[in-house]
This record gives sequence, C-alpha cells and structure tokens, in this order.
Amino acid sequence: MRISQQIWPRPVVLVCSVNREGKPNVMTASFVMPVSFEPKYLAVSIAPQRYTFENLKETKELTINVCDVSMKKAAEICGTHSGRYVDKFELANLTKEPSRKISAPCIREAPISFECVVDGMYRHGDHYIVVGEVVEEHIRRKDFVPLSHVTEDRYIMNL
Ligand SMILES: Cc1cc2nc3c(=O)[nH]c(=O)nc-3n(C[C@H](O)[C@H](O)[C@H](O)COP(=O)(O)O)c2cc1C
Repeated sequence: MRISQQIWPRPVVLVCSVNREGKPNVMTASFVMPVSFEPKYLAVSIAPQRYTFENLKETKELTINVCDVSMKKAAEICGTHSGRYVDKFELANLTKEPSRKISAPCIREAPISFECVVDGMYRHGDHYIVVGEVVEEHIRRKDFVPLSHVTEDRYIMNL
C-alpha cells in the first residue's frame, strides 16, 4: 500500500518557483506540513525528478499557495504536467501575482499564500523535505473550504 493511501487527508497546495532566468513554474503538492509558529516555517516533500526541485536548488525561493475546493481542476493539471514542457499557469488558468519579498510568484486564486526562502533540503528516501522560512504571507480569504487529497485522483471536497 502506498503511504498516501495510509495517511490522509492531506491539504493540497500549489508550489511556485523560478529558475535562474526568472521563469516561473507551479506544481501541486500534498506532502506538506507546518513546522514552526514563530518564526513561521513550512515543509513540503518534493521528489528530485520534479522540475520544481531543480528550480529550488537553483534559486532557493518558493511560494506555498493553499488550494480551496474551487481549485481542484487546477491542482490536477499542475500535478500531472511538468513545467519543463508547458506553461501550467496558462494551462490551469491561474493568475500569477508578484510576491513582495521573493521572485517566485504567488497564485491570486489561492485564499492564502506564503512567500518562503529555502532553509534546508533534506533527502529521505525518494523525496526531499524542503523547509521554507515564511518571509511574507497573503491572506485573501479566511472562510474557505480547503481541498484535501487522498491519493491519485481522489480528493475530499468538504470539511
Ligand atoms: C494532488 C497531488 C499532490 C501531489 N503531491 C506531491 C508532493 O507532495 N510532492 C511531489 O514531489 N509531487 C507531488 N505531486 C506530483 C507533482 O505535482 C507532479 O509530478 C508535477 O507534474 C511536477 O511538476 P514539475 O515537473 O513542473 O515540477 C502531486 C500531484 C497531485 C495531483
């Protein structure tokens, strides 16, 4: 049994990053967790095959954008295509919003976005835990229904 079938539900987020030339990308992640209240830290577990992983190694900045249930289709698209080959912002109809403190953009459709600077990347098995220090946050809406992932294309759409 896959670990994702054993530990669920997990919140779905969109991780935005940029490469050295400043080209942005967005990928879906549900291996995510809060790490510290003050200062605020978040961690997301990312496989080294992801294009996002290359960007994170290069530029060490990311935004973590919380998905609500209306973002399910976008999360599916950003979790099944690679930014190596397609512009997922366009494909998933997501709006890039400039961050205040870093170069990776935020996602305007997300109720909450965190701007993070990578503090460490630690390999464990087939993923790396990427720990990000939150340097800025955007709270667009507080009353939202979060999108939760089970496994593959199974989600939980209510609280
Ligand atoms: C709901 C969902 C959750 C996912 N969670 C993760 C995750 O936590 N970590 C990860 O490395 N990949 C995860 N993926 C897979 C990546 O999003 C997928 O491989 C994506 O195409 C990588 O994009 P990139 O190559 O542009 O970085 C998830 C996919 C979906 C659909």
